[in-house]
Amino acid sequence: GLADVGVTGLAVMGRNLARNIARHGHAVAVHNRTASRVDELVAEHGDEGDFRPSHSLEDFVASLAKPRRVIIMVKAGKATDAVIDELVPLLEEGDIVVDAGNAHYEDTRRREHDLRERGLHFVGTGVSGGEEGALEGPSIMPGGSRESYEALGPILEDIAVDVDGTPCCTYVGPDGAGHFVKMVHNGIEYADMQLIAEAYDLLRQGLDLSPAQLADVFDEWNEGDLESFLVEITARVLRHEDASTGKPFVDVVVDQAEQKGTGRWTVQSALDLGVPVTGIAEAVFARALSGAAGQRKAVLDRGLAGPSGGRLEGADAEGFVDAVRQALYASKVVAYAQGFDQITAASQEYGWDIDRGMMATIWRGGCIIRARFLDRIKQAYDKDQHLASLLLDDYFAEAVADAQDAWRRVVATAVRLGVPAPGFSSALAYYDGLRRDRLPAALVQGLRDLFGAHTYRRVDAEGTYHVLWSEDGSEERQDTQDQ
Ligand code: 6PG
Repeated sequence: GLADVGVTGLAVMGRNLARNIARHGHAVAVHNRTASRVDELVAEHGDEGDFRPSHSLEDFVASLAKPRRVIIMVKAGKATDAVIDELVPLLEEGDIVVDAGNAHYEDTRRREHDLRERGLHFVGTGVSGGEEGALEGPSIMPGGSRESYEALGPILEDIAVDVDGTPCCTYVGPDGAGHFVKMVHNGIEYADMQLIAEAYDLLRQGLDLSPAQLADVFDEWNEGDLESFLVEITARVLRHEDASTGKPFVDVVVDQAEQKGTGRWTVQSALDLGVPVTGIAEAVFARALSGAAGQRKAVLDRGLAGPSGGRLEGADAEGFVDAVRQALYASKVVAYAQGFDQITAASQEYGWDIDRGMMATIWRGGCIIRARFLDRIKQAYDKDQHLASLLLDDYFAEAVADAQDAWRRVVATAVRLGVPAPGFSSALAYYDGLRRDRLPAALVQGLRDLFGAHTYRRVDAEGTYHVLWSEDGSEERQDTQDQ
């Protein structure tokens, strides 16, 4: 018979995805531009399931049952368009093209639109979990038409990881919704890692703990509310000793964080949507600062002033480890609240109708940000589907209330020691901003009105106003013309 599904693009992610599909009892057609990859896969793993190798795209398409389900797993960008262009003439109405790479959601919207005009379904799907996830069970975030999910969903749910009997895969929403959600997942991943890095830095600088001692701290944290994949692997990385020097591994790695771009995309989109994702933005900028090697060296050579005294002593040191734990948790709550706000805003903007509780549900396993914490987010949206901010949920409001003294202490300590903690401090600033009765935005409005006649609204009356700053300082109502 014909294959149930096909995978083209057999680099490590595509290869592992194909193996995962085969291991679940589906006949999987496999194709790669360089044909030797196809043969290697079958030679090495052919015994794991029913692989149908093809050396040409024509044979590959011909080996698929209808409607054809083709998963593309190539580098995001031009390579994806090239494969689609080659594939489309070989397909028939109703066939489903799946892009499982980290595509930009605007590209996905464009491709979905183009393929829909040709009678094809285009599914942009997020797949998270790295190499291991792809093989053992990723978290999968498919967008596209609901109809395509009928045909595709069962296979994807099969290969996704299960948490409490629920697969970490669900229909996300039309066109770019799946890739958008994956993008925000990655943005949150950036924020999570930045916060972890700040916690590590503060404890190392403030208490002079060694990487190995810090590994124990993170292991302990992983037993509580912070339990997550990223905290777990932080302990592993910190405990690791460099094979050639015997030094802590973290001390032999160049301290410049790289990025492939999904975090930057998240922030760019948030700017357009007007959603303050400060946690993600600080994480992206912290990577940029780390990479500014020339500037950093010049500053180091010049020796710019910092505070005196580098270590915490006595009462300052007491309970600091736990204070950092609490600051990390509170900042993490803020970063997630912001990420979910961005999903809310995009869902409204594009009419995607994304179920936020379901997003938390499918992030509980398989993906990089998988964590105990996501159960709490799921529960928050179960209680109130229309929750205006995660910070308003009773559990999170209390968690942050409990943590806030420690959080303020940690940010103040970071400032005093001169240890940069942009994630912790901007999360706290966001929280305090949201709490404020009156914000200094009123002054900003006043300034805008003075220098540019940009107008303002009054607290005590309807309408738009402008002060005649260069005349007698009287106020004019600006919006009466149309009345
Ligand atoms: C995942 C990861 C994956 C990617 C990282 C790395 O969900 O499996 O997010 O997509 O490995 O996002 O991204 P950077 O190179 O930008 O840090």
